[in-house]
Amino acid sequence: MRMTVIGCGYLGAVHAASMAQLGHDVVGIDVDEAKIAALAGGLPPFFEPGLPELLDRALATGRLRFSTDMADARGSAVHFVAVGTPQQPGALAADLTYVHAAIDALAPMLEPGDLVAGKSTVPVGTARAIAARLADTGALVAWNPEFLREGFAIQDTLHPDRLVYGLPDEAPDVARAVLDEVYAATIADGTPVVATDLETAELVKSAANAFLATKISFINAMAEVCEAAGADVTQLADAIGHDARIGRRFLNAGLGFGGGCLPKDIRAFMARAGELGADQALTFLREVDQINMRRRSRAVDLAREALDGSVLGRKIAVLGLAFKPDSDDVRDSPALNVAAQLALQGAAVLCHDPRAIEPARHRFPELAYVETVADAVRDADAVLVLTEWDEYRELDPVALGQDVAQRIVIDGRNCLDSGAWRAAGWRYRALGRPREARALQAA
Ligand code: UGA
Repeated sequence: MRMTVIGCGYLGAVHAASMAQLGHDVVGIDVDEAKIAALAGGLPPFFEPGLPELLDRALATGRLRFSTDMADARGSAVHFVAVGTPQQPGALAADLTYVHAAIDALAPMLEPGDLVAGKSTVPVGTARAIAARLADTGALVAWNPEFLREGFAIQDTLHPDRLVYGLPDEAPDVARAVLDEVYAATIADGTPVVATDLETAELVKSAANAFLATKISFINAMAEVCEAAGADVTQLADAIGHDARIGRRFLNAGLGFGGGCLPKDIRAFMARAGELGADQALTFLREVDQINMRRRSRAVDLAREALDGSVLGRKIAVLGLAFKPDSDDVRDSPALNVAAQLALQGAAVLCHDPRAIEPARHRFPELAYVETVADAVRDADAVLVLTEWDEYRELDPVALGQDVAQRIVIDGRNCLDSGAWRAAGWRYRALGRPREARALQAA
């Protein structure tokens, strides 16, 4: 099939390359010339495992090309819309500027019978408004939300847990047939399809991210109670996670969620519910957001407590800047936020990350960045592990202990082997585990 993918950021670039991998003839379109030039050269402008190889393969077949010219959308049967929907400055709601600009630019290129398939995360009601805007083109509008995780983006696109189709009232079967053809190989692998109306499809995406955010904040709320009660949140998570109704995944307590999706999506969801008069239904998400933000301050407090009440002038090694491992994304990164707070409180912070130094420097040029863990920890008064990269999990606490000024480690992601660090003479502190010391002594 011939198809267009409009917006070649994380979602769009991965979707375009994956669709070419499935055998389709794909043109990826974006207004950002530098991004398009990079992608056309097989170089994604962000780090995603496997994407350079997938791009190379797809570009070599001739089935994938990139363009800044919307006229190249002409002749496609399907036009995916995968542009960003960031948070509006100074408000909770989503900024739909890029969605509207993409639709306005696409409209003159559409032929009757084309399918416009939205993938961006949008406030419920957006798809129907777009359908009204495009009514005189004769194109159909469907919403086909995406659930990919950064770091697993290709796998999640080619082998998703489910496909969700929000279908237009006037021709659901026609739109469904087109989407079934797009995803024929994925469906043949056994991926379930949930076909529904436009509004439900839009809400599925908001609800999924709200649930995930709530699950993380739930365990982080338990971490706060564990801290007050002298209990251990990691053991608590293991124990409740054995209940299949609860499940252990997404119950990792620590610095909480960040990134370009969960924080802005729950805020946009609250804002939209407010517009619809259903704000009470989502007031709990405000609490979810607040619990999440408190974790960042708590990590700073832990550092201050460990350093006898002040970080002023103390040398602190920050290991991890990305919002999660296997990503160079620092959008709303809890790690970068903690590093910046410590620097603002007068600490001499040296930051390291395996992938995210340049994006972090771009966002916070005033922080100091170093290329190796050894450079970060040399003579440090405290080491903070804020993103759970394998490189940090595998650090040798004995060797590292030789280089620091004081053996104090704060595990912001509950990702280190606390026993090994303690055995190497480190004072180990983690979020939600005040009994760590006593439990280990008793063992
Ligand atoms: C998230 C969702 O997981 C995807 O399903 C969704 O498609 C995507 O947003 C999106 O809307 O596009 P992503 O932002 O890539 O994906 O990252 P996650 O793996 O969900 O992690 C989000 C944050 O939660 C990270 O900062 C991570 O460190 C944190 N997290 C995750 C925890 O603090 N604890 C956990 O147990 C799990």
